[in-house]
Amino acid sequence: MSTPLREVSVTEVKRVTTQTLQEMKRDGIPVSMLTAYDFTSARIIDSAGIDVILVGDSASNVMAGHETTLPITLDHMIYHAQCVERGVQRALVIVDLPFGSFQGDSRKALSSAIRVMKEAGVHGVKLEGGSAIEMSVSRILEAGIPVMGHLGLTPQSIYRFGTYRVRARDADEAETLMQDAVKLQELGCFSIVLEKIPASLAKKVSEKLEIPTIGIGAGSGCDGQVLVTHDALGLTTDFHPRFVRRYAHLDEIMREAVQQYIADVRSRSFPADEESY
Ligand code: KIV
Repeated sequence: MSTPLREVSVTEVKRVTTQTLQEMKRDGIPVSMLTAYDFTSARIIDSAGIDVILVGDSASNVMAGHETTLPITLDHMIYHAQCVERGVQRALVIVDLPFGSFQGDSRKALSSAIRVMKEAGVHGVKLEGGSAIEMSVSRILEAGIPVMGHLGLTPQSIYRFGTYRVRARDADEAETLMQDAVKLQELGCFSIVLEKIPASLAKKVSEKLEIPTIGIGAGSGCDGQVLVTHDALGLTTDFHPRFVRRYAHLDEIMREAVQQYIADVRSRSFPADEESY
């Protein structure tokens, strides 16, 4: 296990930018990224010193309880992004463009990205896909909006994949992924998430690209790592892929605290005199 970092005071550190991530890759410093969907969690995660906060469309799963990321809307994503942005002073905040807000229509993609930037005041957007969404990525970049790519297991395409298994194990898919990664870099993306692909392929992509790769289930050869915060903190209990490391078991802490509260209410030991007026 790594050494715990001290809490970083936001007054003593500069804001993380896309340029910072580029410099971190140059200097061989791994980028840390976690998801957040609300003000309170975002404030804690930011104060711990995370580099990037992703307002992921995984909110569809962990916030709303849907089975997939497909149902979440652009309005929902903007709401979560607004909440997160209010809690963050240091980290770079990136927001997922949800399913249906950018595919197949680059004008719609641009207007979705502009809404996210204007209404939530965040720093960039993430889009799932490679050459198929080239026009959308280009238009958003031309408007001056930073774009993070996302390749490999792209959960918005789950019904095409039919399974959450590791992607790009075969040579053809691996080659396509490499070409897509190069394409996204050429278009001007500042970083690419690589999800659930073989570690050897992720390492090759990371070595080939000048922009940082952020892995999830993609091994240690990426330039950074991302996890869904609810998985990392043990709030989700029914999801056990091998790439998730649980840094806490907040589900147990929360359940025990709630049980204690119920017991205190039932026994009338809460509230005590000093908790009353
Ligand atoms: O939505 C999300 O949380 C993501 C990460 C898993 C990369 O896209």
